[in-house]
Amino acid sequence: MTRGLFITVEGPEGAGKSTILAELYNQLLQDGFEVIQTREPGGISIAEQIRGVILNTENTEMDKRTEALLYAAARRQHLVEKVMPALDEGKIVICDRFIDSSLAYQGNARGIGMEEVMNINQFAIEEKMPDLTLYFDIDPEEGLKRIAKHNGREVNRLDLESVEFHTLVREGYLKLIKQYPDRIQVIDASQSKEAVLTDAYEVVTSYLNK
Ligand code: TYD
Repeated sequence: MTRGLFITVEGPEGAGKSTILAELYNQLLQDGFEVIQTREPGGISIAEQIRGVILNTENTEMDKRTEALLYAAARRQHLVEKVMPALDEGKIVICDRFIDSSLAYQGNARGIGMEEVMNINQFAIEEKMPDLTLYFDIDPEEGLKRIAKHNGREVNRLDLESVEFHTLVREGYLKLIKQYPDRIQVIDASQSKEAVLTDAYEVVTSYLNK
């Protein structure tokens, strides 16, 4: 039986997710919660090695199903090695991206199909879905503009995709919001950083106080 709370954070590129996640983590720590923050793909050595292969801009020949399987493999290892043990100890786990990223990016934007991608992921996660997902919504063009301004940020293989690709990513997320209205909470990421953080904190604390 897991006792902790599994929160995932999702959104297209440039939604400011990682910055907000770090601040949300600090606030929850200050409130006295036992909380860890982690990310996908990565978070532990094996998954970080897989991340290196997936996101390497030189790997232009990568097949889309290979890409989906590698994300699922990284997810599996990260889940059993890091997420589940922390949840078993009763901690809050905040994870930057999880299964919804695969459904939106590989399922919808790459065109494999969201159901197909869900099927391979079910093998990886054995029904362990997040308790709560924060979706940071931003217009893809606005998000890509923000990334372009953000000098020094590592540019990965998926950042190099077109605006059309990123529009399909967002479309995928919007389908997921309809499919999982209770789990996925939408946050308007076009607001100021402070307003986005306030909204994110409110969603999490109201879930905790339920
Ligand atoms: P990262 O640099 O962590 O991007 P971001 O800051 O936008 O989260 O790189 C992760 C990339 O991998 C990002 O472009 C989204 C993509 N991704 C998928 O396509 N499928 C997945 O299942 C996951 C977890 C990530």
